[in-house]
Amino acid sequence: MTNRFLKLLSFVFILSAVGCGKNNDTNSANETVERRVETLLRKMTLEEKLGQMNQITSYANIEDLSNLIKKGEVGSILNEIDPVRINALQRVAIEESRLGIPILIARDVIHGFKTIFPIPLGQAASFNPDIVETGARIAAIEASSVGIRWTFAPMIDIGRDPRWGRIAEGFGEDTYLTSVMGVASIKGYQGDSLNNPTSIAACAKHFAGYGAAEGGRDYNSTNIPERLLRNVFLPPFEAAVNAGAATFMTSFNDNDGIPSTGNVFLLKDVLRKEWKFDGFVVSDWASVVEMITHGYAADEAEAALKAINAGVDMEMVSGSFVKEAPQLIKDNKLKESVIDDAVRDILRIKFKLGLFENPYAKEGSNTVCYDESHLQAAKQAAIESVILLKNTNQTLPVKSDIKSIAVVGPMANAPYEQLGTWVFDGDKAYTQTPLKAIDNLSKCHNIQLIYEQGLTHSRDNNMATIAKAANAAAKADVIFAFIGEESILSGEAHCLADLNLQGGQSALIEALYKTGKPVVTVVMAGRPLTIEKEISQSAAVLYSFHPGTMGGPAIADLLFGVAVPSAKTPMTFPKATGQVPMYYSHNNTGRPATRNEVLLNNIEVEAGQTSLGCTSFYLDAGFDPLYPFGYGLSYTTFSYSNIKLSKDKFKSDETIKVEFELENTGNYQGTEVVQLYVQDKSGSVTRPVKELKRFMRVTLQPTEKKTLSFELPISELAFWNIDMKKVVEPGDFNLWVATDSQSGEAVPFTVIQ
Ligand code: GLC
Repeated sequence: MTNRFLKLLSFVFILSAVGCGKNNDTNSANETVERRVETLLRKMTLEEKLGQMNQITSYANIEDLSNLIKKGEVGSILNEIDPVRINALQRVAIEESRLGIPILIARDVIHGFKTIFPIPLGQAASFNPDIVETGARIAAIEASSVGIRWTFAPMIDIGRDPRWGRIAEGFGEDTYLTSVMGVASIKGYQGDSLNNPTSIAACAKHFAGYGAAEGGRDYNSTNIPERLLRNVFLPPFEAAVNAGAATFMTSFNDNDGIPSTGNVFLLKDVLRKEWKFDGFVVSDWASVVEMITHGYAADEAEAALKAINAGVDMEMVSGSFVKEAPQLIKDNKLKESVIDDAVRDILRIKFKLGLFENPYAKEGSNTVCYDESHLQAAKQAAIESVILLKNTNQTLPVKSDIKSIAVVGPMANAPYEQLGTWVFDGDKAYTQTPLKAIDNLSKCHNIQLIYEQGLTHSRDNNMATIAKAANAAAKADVIFAFIGEESILSGEAHCLADLNLQGGQSALIEALYKTGKPVVTVVMAGRPLTIEKEISQSAAVLYSFHPGTMGGPAIADLLFGVAVPSAKTPMTFPKATGQVPMYYSHNNTGRPATRNEVLLNNIEVEAGQTSLGCTSFYLDAGFDPLYPFGYGLSYTTFSYSNIKLSKDKFKSDETIKVEFELENTGNYQGTEVVQLYVQDKSGSVTRPVKELKRFMRVTLQPTEKKTLSFELPISELAFWNIDMKKVVEPGDFNLWVATDSQSGEAVPFTVIQ
């Protein structure tokens, strides 16, 4: 026997002798997938390869669709949710196309498929990754039950501008919070293994920097320098790769003149070379050919060439790859080896999903969607996503001496609006609204319920119905006012230049305030709104980003004290639109505001030029936000004490342990989201005044006190520095353990060489 064969034989023997631990199993499974990919790829014609790189949107004519599939021209279909049609199309792919490659069925399952959870911005407010993972898992179970095996979520774009409609769809302004929630989503969607039939491939989107659209106007250009991109916008995507995200989606924006769909630095240098991503990249809807509109490609041939060479593996709906690539190869402008790499990435995910073994959906009655356990999970997510912004004189929860409640406002009984944006498949017939839930609870408490809509929808401006509602509400002991945004006012392309309430909603709150009865305002919106005046006229305010199917029972439980609010603001709430973009982890500047600046109405006539000080603030809005990041009240109160570090000097390979005591000093059981912030006081480049590095949810009974701790490796203080290297720089730092981003006392420590 040859020497080589003997070596191979011994290798096989050793492998079998040592047995296959998990890693060996994974390795051998991956080897199997790679072998299957190569075997199939070798058989494919160029047209069949390009077919895999082609995603089309479904349409009525199933014969036409079947013909395309039979010819091997389609790799994926989006927006088909009928299991009968899905199976028919899949059968054509497997039994009638030459190589029998199954198609990948995709859908935007963003915060639920049928059972709708709070919008992602609301889920972020829970600061509870378990809630996010559970929601994604349930969405995957429901979506896969009809044959969907790929979702275009999580959206992990950092958003610091509430004018941007898609702020609703992400996890807010913070890099760390977004990273944690993005990973939780991916775990939920993809489950323990992609080839589990209830798993669906996740899609980290939109790569990258999309949330920094200039002016908060969707699809607009961004100008994010590499260091800011790497320190703020990219970490959630790197975390997504490390969590095993199966796919990525390119973003519509051009950053510094380069559209992401043609951006080699993003798609090759960072995603593939640095992060070793081995899934596949899909463009956004027609974003390949939109590079012509951007002025980055002269025609479809150049757009296709730039996208494929940059690393886009699959083209969403614009069809230029199939059309242009054959000629580009003939003209030696495009190498077929680049096509092979793209097809490998796609086939790898199809094999990992088990599509070749398990391509069909169950047909017939669907008992999975809207399962009671799903609805209860959605209710819990909604409960944990509602922020208590104000509660003067413990107006909430409803007291036992309340005999009558008035429910008013356009969002009290708005089953469609309450679901929020990106709800293609949730059925408003299943929505449980606040009005219905409050009616149920009022009956249990023997409370009279008065209902007046006041306004028919959030943009309604009818002063007569406002007056009628106020007259009716004046008879009640307490008024619940439900205001906010119709779902169409946030989401893709739905940006606002002014964050004030729409229509006559502000007038409605004022009319209710003038009745002299306490007004509890509940806001359901897709973004932070500038509601300082309405808050001043309310005794209590609950802020609920569109809470989904079970938002009504969740909010009712909070109003009546069956549940206690625990959510925190996932992004800064500005006082005025003009303050935007506004976020807590800002740089200090050379002239930071002292936060007690003189405001417009207190300036003397003919005041001296420099009499107001020269710091960074607005004469008409000051410096402070309406509410900072991480802010939220409870029905109880908490006190922090004895915050101490394991020591005060650390080497870069050490870990900080910070201990603290938390006490529930109020009368209700409550959950506090404890936040850990760090400031790098001086660096080779300016650093943010503070950055969130950890958080934990702690539930305590009244008077209960616990000693708790965070551990933070110094390595997590690394940032991309003046040399564009990711390093921890020695020096002085501050650390806070606090209830929000503006509270707490700084605890100093030093990092030494
Ligand atoms: C849209 C969105 C993207 C979505 C895709 C498919 O334009 O930008 O987030 O997943 O098209 O619907």
